[in-house]
This record gives sequence, C-alpha cells and structure tokens, in this order.
Amino acid sequence: MTQAELERGVEEVLIDEVQLQARIAELGDEISEDYAGRELLLIGILKGAVFFMADLMRRLRVPCEIDFMAISSYGAATDSSGVVRILKDLDINIESRDVLVVEDIIDSGLTLSYLMRNLEARKPRSLEVCALLTKPERRELSVDVRYVGFEIPNRFVIGYGLDFAERYRNLPFVGVLNPELAAEA
Ligand code: IMP
Ligand code: MG
Repeated sequence: MTQAELERGVEEVLIDEVQLQARIAELGDEISEDYAGRELLLIGILKGAVFFMADLMRRLRVPCEIDFMAISSYGAATDSSGVVRILKDLDINIESRDVLVVEDIIDSGLTLSYLMRNLEARKPRSLEVCALLTKPERRELSVDVRYVGFEIPNRFVIGYGLDFAERYRNLPFVGVLNPELAAEA
C-alpha cells in the first residue's frame, strides 16, 4: 500500500501519538500501584493488542511476563451466544497467577465475555482487563473492564494495532476509517 493509499484510509485522527503515550503512561502508573509487590501475567489478544501491550509493558514497574491468545469470533455482532474459537491458546498455565488481559478495543463485549469465562475456569488468582479503547454505545454484554484508555464514539477506527481487513495497523495514531473505503469493502 502506498503512503497516499494509507492516508486515504483515514477520515480523521481521533487520538494522536502524544495523547496515546500520555494515557498509556497513566495506565502504567495505575497498574504498577495496584499490583505493587505482586507479579503480573499480561495476556495480549492478537493481533490488535500488540502495539498497546508493548508500550504499556514498558511503563510497568512490577515484574511481568507476557503471553498471547488469538481468537476468532463467528460474526460476533449477530451471534448472541458470543461463542468464539481459540486459534492460539496460551503457553503458560495461569492457575494462581495475577492475570491482566490486554485488549485493543471492546465493542459489543461478546468476545471478551467469552474469553473471561474461559480464563476464569483456569483458576487464576486474579483476572482483570485493560482495554485501550471502548465503545460503550455498542455494548451488548456488560463486561468488567478495570482499566480503560479512552472511551470513543461508535465509529470504526484503525491504526495503532487496529485493522480494517488486516490493513492500517501500522498507523502510529488511532483514526476514523474513511467511510468510502468501508462502503467499497
Ligand atoms: P466485540 O466482541 O464486539 O467486543 O469485538 C471486539 C473485537 O472486534 C476487537 O478486538 C477488534 O478486533 C474488533 N473491532 C471492534 N471494533 C473495531 C473498530 O472500530 N476497529 C477495528 N476493529 C474493531
Ligand atoms: Mg480485528
């Protein structure tokens, strides 16, 4: 994709690099205080959370390990059961661990609520969620999200890990997808 094509994808910058890093530093402080004296296991949800997870982890002052899961939802928006398929499971046993799930965005909440049920069954010592973005208007299932970066309106966003058809993850900011492109897809 050329630079011009990349730029055409963005209708508007919603959260720029400076805002992202400032908020991530705040989240890092908050999490470091809450988990002082403990060891954290961060679980990143592939692929969108990779950028956020890498930046957040650099702001943590508690010992931490990382692991990843990849999940696919079966048209989650229309599937009220919220059943998702695990494409890549964890390598680490989370029993008795302090676990923090790191997500890019929470939309309907279906993916996350399935994931939380699945992880709870593995008996972690604690289980919390840190999401960079949330779209409260779109929520169908309520999920307890302990740490939230930004609440955003109901618009499709790209960049900083978030994709549209696997593209635009490399944008250094969070932007709103050009609706013309969404219509072409
Ligand atoms: P949920 O199960 O509806 O909460 O879906 C969450 C997943 O949908 C996220 O992890 C993203 O992969 C994807 N998603 C939801 N909204 C957006 C968006 O605005 N941009 C890019 N991906 C999104
Ligand atoms: Mg996605």
